[in-house]
Amino acid sequence: MKKILITMCLSAAAVCAVSAQTEVRMTLHDESRGGQIIPREIYGQFAEHLGRCIYGGIWVGEESPIPNEKGYRVDVLEALRALKVPVLRWPGGCFADEYHWMDGIGPREERPKMVNTNWGGTVEDNSFGTHEFLNFCELLGCEPYVNGNIGSGSVEEMSKWVEYMTSDADSPMANLRRKNGRDKPWKVRYFGVGNETWGCGGNMTPDYYADLYRRYATFCKSFSGNWLYKICSGANNYDHAWTETMMRRVGNQMNGLTLHYYTVFDWNHKGSATEFTADDWYATIGKCAEIENVIKGHCDIMDRYDPARRIALIVDEWGTWWDEEPGTVRGHLYQQNTLRDAMVAAVSLNIFHKYTERVRMANIAQMVNVLQAMILTRDDEMVLTPTYWVFSMYTPHQGAEAVPLYFEPETVKDRYRHEVDLLSATASRAADGAITLSLANVDLDKECRVTIALDGDKRYDVKGQVLTADAMTARNTFENPDVVRPVELKGIESSKGEITVVLPAKSIVSLTLR
Ligand code: AHR
Repeated sequence: MKKILITMCLSAAAVCAVSAQTEVRMTLHDESRGGQIIPREIYGQFAEHLGRCIYGGIWVGEESPIPNEKGYRVDVLEALRALKVPVLRWPGGCFADEYHWMDGIGPREERPKMVNTNWGGTVEDNSFGTHEFLNFCELLGCEPYVNGNIGSGSVEEMSKWVEYMTSDADSPMANLRRKNGRDKPWKVRYFGVGNETWGCGGNMTPDYYADLYRRYATFCKSFSGNWLYKICSGANNYDHAWTETMMRRVGNQMNGLTLHYYTVFDWNHKGSATEFTADDWYATIGKCAEIENVIKGHCDIMDRYDPARRIALIVDEWGTWWDEEPGTVRGHLYQQNTLRDAMVAAVSLNIFHKYTERVRMANIAQMVNVLQAMILTRDDEMVLTPTYWVFSMYTPHQGAEAVPLYFEPETVKDRYRHEVDLLSATASRAADGAITLSLANVDLDKECRVTIALDGDKRYDVKGQVLTADAMTARNTFENPDVVRPVELKGIESSKGEITVVLPAKSIVSLTLR
């Protein structure tokens, strides 16, 4: 049922429309069991040697006046721990295919410098290398996802990196690691064999890369009980031909195939992160939600070659990409983050939840100070972005069991003729039985009254959090860090077999049903 209510008020001067409300009826199958488990890795992150993501964002070094634990910023570390980051991809991105890992081990003062040609020509001093990354993952309690260099590195270099990180044998690379201060190998499950090999990773044709992948991957071994999950560099957007070739030519030599999808309308005119119109808002959500079509297309091809769904589709780069913040270093991809970015995060995560039979990992780009970041830093200051808060509100979905949810949202047509759903939602049940229902009201003007019908006549104790702001461009700055932050949602009505909530316009709500 689609209905719009207009509430009128009589002011002293005139009759004016003060609020408009849509109504949506939803069915939540709260008694159903055996739903798909939402892999924790859907909440993965990506940290590249790019701008101030690693240096200044994560790593400041032990000598820094910025409070740090073994060189890692304490504020950032704690904020990330609260998100329960499951997996972190590193060192790129485009950087991965010009990274030579041996430059990043051993005494820091002896490590050679290089120029980061992809990202602003910044000098990279290699002070953050393999040990610093893998130890960071241990501190964070997440799985490392290391992306190897196929574009400019040799098979031997890649093979030795895997040995260095994961072998416990009396072997040359394991002994070199020991000499560098790490006795026991790390566990490294996820290993990427190249990145964007159709572009910055080597401008290869799919057939050429497929052969190269097979060759390089052959020498990436599973040492000492560390079972290596090998990831093949996949398509950009709608490049179905790339997926087709990888599935046909690489097939069971890979465990996962990647997909990159950024929310960008026009690569030459990306637009401001903070100054935009209502028209831009809907176009952004339309473009973001288009990822569902993109995913479906790749899944269809993968299903033909791999009906048992052994190979995962890994969306290891996604998120918004706006013009760089004026006054910042060109090529460092520093952008602000508004309520619009939060909406993109919520809508994207809701979509990923629908395809977890195939989509088993996603890594938002990127973790700190780059693109759609969780966190922005300036010297010793830190700001948590609206996107951070969505990830925070969504933590209960990690590893939870999907709960079926049915509703028919109102839609609006954006300027690119996307039918944009004005309501997006997802639900899951955690191991303790609590159900989390996350709802995103995309509508800029109308609040949405949602009535949720349950399977039986159970009455839940319902608590809610809401993330919204007066302006769609609202953001957290170093001066005002708490403009967009979740607060308690008031006015939830819970009766036998039914729950009713009112979602403010442009808001993201998470309900916990116990
Ligand atoms: O995330 C920024 C860049 O976007 C990555 O380095 C690259 O893989 C992609 O093109």
